[in-house]
Amino acid sequence: MSAAPNKPAAADDTPLLRARDLARHYSVSRGWFSPKATVKALDGVSFELRAGQTLAVVGESGCGKSTLARALTLIETPTSGELLIQGRNVADADASTRKALRRDVQMVFQNPYAALNPRKTIAATLAEPLVINTTLSRAERQERVETLAAKVGLRMEHLRRYPHMFSGGQRQRIAIARAMVLQPGIVVADEPTSALDLSIQAQILNLFMDLQEEFHTGYVFISHNLAVVEHVADEVLVMYLGRVVERGEKRQLFARPLHPYTQALISATPALRPADRRARIRIHGELPSPLKPPTGCAFHQRCPMAVPRCAEVRPELREVDGRMVACDVV
Ligand SMILES: Nc1ncnc2c1ncn2[C@@H]1O[C@H](COP(=O)(O)OP(=O)(O)O)[C@@H](O)[C@H]1O
Ligand SMILES: [Mg+2]
Repeated sequence: MSAAPNKPAAADDTPLLRARDLARHYSVSRGWFSPKATVKALDGVSFELRAGQTLAVVGESGCGKSTLARALTLIETPTSGELLIQGRNVADADASTRKALRRDVQMVFQNPYAALNPRKTIAATLAEPLVINTTLSRAERQERVETLAAKVGLRMEHLRRYPHMFSGGQRQRIAIARAMVLQPGIVVADEPTSALDLSIQAQILNLFMDLQEEFHTGYVFISHNLAVVEHVADEVLVMYLGRVVERGEKRQLFARPLHPYTQALISATPALRPADRRARIRIHGELPSPLKPPTGCAFHQRCPMAVPRCAEVRPELREVDGRMVACDVV
């Protein structure tokens, strides 16, 4: 397949994606007579992603994962911070560069049905990005669609059908094919297997990994399921109330999580609980309201290791043991 235009050669070591202190705040109304409040859905997230690598983003519902996904895919503009795609700062890009960058970051959503146009055949759905973004002839488009359909496990007769004729897992295969059809450098997948039966989840995860091996795509893989993350990630970023609490290489992070929140998430996933860590670390209470985040460390009220100063001083990310952790107690 021909390379997508506007993609610089990956010979240098420029990260595909680089987020620096990325933030997205929302102004929300609390009623007619109250002043507007600010939700810091995403509040200063930094990372780098390289070709062929998977960065997994984990955290409870409401911690800002989807907001991050929308910022990375240029669906929403960050309130502050920097986003570089293929080394180019999105904020400085002119309209045509922006368009090319946007095309280079494709998204796969949790609900594959909502993501597919019910009135279009699968062939038309997969060809559409090629019609819009390339000058390929009809025959070339068809060839590319068929090749990709085969790679994601669809049969040729499937291409003439409509989305409602497929199971959830097959629809997700179609959505993945559509995300891949322009051969993007980066795919952001937001809980792509959460809506699927357990038996199907592993097949879809393996499909993601096979495609990555073939195309060397960089993935930002969002999930609240640590067993899934363990399967797919190279690097893991743990979020809590819009901020990174721990970021590090997967094996290291799973073998010895440093942040109490990471420890709690891992110990709550039975398949991952190391035999010697018998005591399950429980997090008590609910995720605090992002409208009124706790002072100091946002996790301190639920943290089994909290000391008085955790309520006062917000810990910054610092390097401990080869990774980044935002906890002053560990
Ligand atoms: N458009 C929006 N307006 C106001 N608040 C929002 C908006 N989108 C998300 N939020 C809030 O931002 C926080 C993070 O949401 P989200 O990114 O969807 O988290 P996650 O995907 O981890 O569940 C939540 O408190 C959510 O209510
Ligand atoms: Mg979400």
